[in-house]
Amino acid sequence: MKFATRLLLSYLFFSVLSFSIIIISVNKAIDYFSFVTIEKQMMEKADICELSFREVLARHEKSITQVQPSDVAKDVLEVLKASGREVRIYDNNLKLLGLAANGILVNNGSPKIFEGNIRNALKGNYSYTVTNNKLIYFAIPIQDKYYQNVYVFEIVENISYFYDIMDKIRYILFIGAGGFTFLITLSSLYIARKTTKPIKYLLGATEKFSRQQFEQVGLNRKDELGMLAAGLNQMGIKLNDYIQYQKQFVSNVSHELKTPLAAIRGFSQYLYEGENEDKDLKKIYFHLVNESKRLTKLINELLILSKFDKATQELNTEKEDLSELTYSIVQEMRPKAEKREITIEVDLENGVLADVNKTLMSHAIANILDNAIKYSNIGGHIRVETSTGQNAAAIKISDQGIGIHKSDLSLVQERFYRAGNSNIAKGSGLGLSLCREIVEKFNGRLILESEIGAGTTVSLLLPLA
Ligand SMILES: Nc1ncnc2c1ncn2[C@@H]1O[C@H](COP(=O)(O)OP(=O)(O)O)[C@@H](O)[C@H]1O
Ligand SMILES: [Mg+2]
Repeated sequence: MKFATRLLLSYLFFSVLSFSIIIISVNKAIDYFSFVTIEKQMMEKADICELSFREVLARHEKSITQVQPSDVAKDVLEVLKASGREVRIYDNNLKLLGLAANGILVNNGSPKIFEGNIRNALKGNYSYTVTNNKLIYFAIPIQDKYYQNVYVFEIVENISYFYDIMDKIRYILFIGAGGFTFLITLSSLYIARKTTKPIKYLLGATEKFSRQQFEQVGLNRKDELGMLAAGLNQMGIKLNDYIQYQKQFVSNVSHELKTPLAAIRGFSQYLYEGENEDKDLKKIYFHLVNESKRLTKLINELLILSKFDKATQELNTEKEDLSELTYSIVQEMRPKAEKREITIEVDLENGVLADVNKTLMSHAIANILDNAIKYSNIGGHIRVETSTGQNAAAIKISDQGIGIHKSDLSLVQERFYRAGNSNIAKGSGLGLSLCREIVEKFNGRLILESEIGAGTTVSLLLPLA
């Protein structure tokens, strides 16, 4: 998962989680405070009703005749019939003594009675029940002068308006939550983008570093990312210095070795060609000549490479006939091939022209042909072809030698890489990489095709001149 996505998801997860917790608690709080308010309202009402009730009761207690609960109920109802949507009076045996609905006395009603509610009130407390259709049954105990709970006065009210208010508050809360989540999503998107942008930039810089393009990493920030950029810059400078130093070193050493090596080569050649009957010495001289030739070749290749590394160097190119060039190189290399009884078949098209530097191009062709000879079996066969395709001039050199393993095909084009089976011949592993760099200098391509045990075909493709 990408860093920005992960950041976004964690933001969203935590904000939704914390907001859900907030919503649940606020919801609970709304419920709690609504009932506290309703309770308070009803209690105030109850107090007033209780007072009136007591007055009626007191009046009856003063009379000489025995107090009949139904008479008391009747009188109380007359006074309090309008104090609620419904008012009811019970005696202490839970018997309904009287009832008024919408301010009118009802004589023979048999309404639903919440006995638990009345029983609770008879114990001396306010008690209430809320039904599903949002009616509150609020029961008030009424005591006589001996502090006996003799009656229960019950008011029924519709509190649906309260539920409506609560629902509205909840609705607003949810809309707010939706808006909040939307804003959080937007802002986390913004933050994720903003945070990952410099990271992506730094990533691009490291990729360039790995291609040895040490550009200045310009991230104008004073935070950790800015420090990282500064660190990368520092690293780039050091790495570049080191690489330049290494290249310079190779170049210097190659230069320094060139002159003494020429002397060694010349003297050993002289000694080898001189009149000497001692066969052992002759062998040693021959070996000296060969090794110094090999070293000279290596040094020359290193010098070409170090020239290439100094990117500013402009190459002199001219329109060259690749067939002519190839022909002369084949002629030069024939003796070497014959020593290993290898035949070279040539098929050259007339006038295959490309803009190249003759010396470098000769070097490249010679290198490929040299490989073909080196890695062919004794008595092998090599085919050298030049042709003009639709948009490229091509030199194709095929052998039937030991071949290159598939996994090695791109590696052998790197500097100093030699495949596992290449120890049948001496070499430094520089040749192919040099060829590729030379061809690429002229905007061409090197294509390697090979099969282990069957042979290798190397094509040098160059833009037509
Ligand atoms: N024609 C070929 N046949 C088989 N293997 C080859 C051929 N050309 C190149 N290779 C492999 O590629 C490696 C790199 O080639 P090169 O850079 O010319 O180095 P070397 O100095 O070993 O010839 C060789 O060591 C060899 O393993
Ligand atoms: Mg080679």
